[in-house]
Amino acid sequence: MPRRACDLPAMTQRLSIVGCGTMGRAIVGGLLASGEASSWTLGATVGHADEAAQLRRALPQVDVGVDNAAEVARADVVLLATKPQAAGEVLTGHGMPEALAGKLLLSICAGITLGQLSSWAPESRVIRVMPNTPALIREGMTVLSPGDRATAEDLDLARRIFDSVGRTRVLDEKHLDVVTGLSGSGPAFACVILEAMADGAVMMGLPRHVAIELAAQTLQGTARMVLATGEHPAALRDRVTTPAGCTIAGLFKMEEGRVRSTVAQTIQVAAQVASGLGQSTD
Ligand SMILES: NC(=O)c1ccc[n+]([C@@H]2O[C@H](COP(=O)([O-])OP(=O)(O)OC[C@H]3O[C@@H](n4cnc5c(N)ncnc54)[C@H](OP(=O)(O)O)[C@@H]3O)[C@@H](O)[C@H]2O)c1
Repeated sequence: MPRRACDLPAMTQRLSIVGCGTMGRAIVGGLLASGEASSWTLGATVGHADEAAQLRRALPQVDVGVDNAAEVARADVVLLATKPQAAGEVLTGHGMPEALAGKLLLSICAGITLGQLSSWAPESRVIRVMPNTPALIREGMTVLSPGDRATAEDLDLARRIFDSVGRTRVLDEKHLDVVTGLSGSGPAFACVILEAMADGAVMMGLPRHVAIELAAQTLQGTARMVLATGEHPAALRDRVTTPAGCTIAGLFKMEEGRVRSTVAQTIQVAAQVASGLGQSTD
């Protein structure tokens, strides 16, 4: 008896990660952990054959190679995850214009604008995306900014991919460099703060591994509390601050070290640098 259409196995789409390094692997790891990967056939490319062999061993679920055009030709959705400086050369490389034609192109390259992407891949529908590495454990923060030709369905599909590895938000492209400095680079800044908190406790005699656990859980718990309650961080801070207590003494020390202004300027300078990444390739 012939099978009806609804009895046929669902067709999976192919997601091709071009330049599957640190961030590409974090996204793949999150997709695999979430189960979203089962809706996709995953393909990936890297720059070197030895790196491809190593990635194949680490992620046997992913079809890994070094031929970008061959991989993109098989793709339904392309995720560009090379360094920003390589983006133009990769997208305009041999066979790529034909392979990219008519495809949805998601770029996570910091500082590479929708204008640049559209000029290098004029026949693609483009969405600029800024994820971060906690995507690996499905705690990522991703901001998406669709280009003119991307459809509502394209944005839904892109959001589905990144929703499966954390939170997502859609913003106008003018915010993307600030987003890069805040949430894209943010895990590095958070690690410095975490490590400094642990160092202080180690100095006072706590074993290092205990200090790191306590600092990490404290930062995680506080961040979750801000997201869950929607309260301003200052209100939550005030609640911990007993008059003449140890917390206000610590807060005074932080202010003396100008921590607030240093952290704020850290984001500012990261955003400024992000806006210049990849611009010299024009
Ligand atoms: N890391 C983050 O936290 C983060 C966060 C948000 C956004 N991003 C963005 O993500 C992108 C990647 O950053 P990353 O930290 O993941 O960099 P990365 O670890 O250096 O990864 C880059 C990858 O690109 C591959 N590659 C190099 N040349 C290639 C080519 N011609 N064709 C195909 N693949 C090629 C490299 O392969 P080989 O190693 O074999 O050369 C490597 O696997 C950047 O544009 C960055 O702005 C990163």
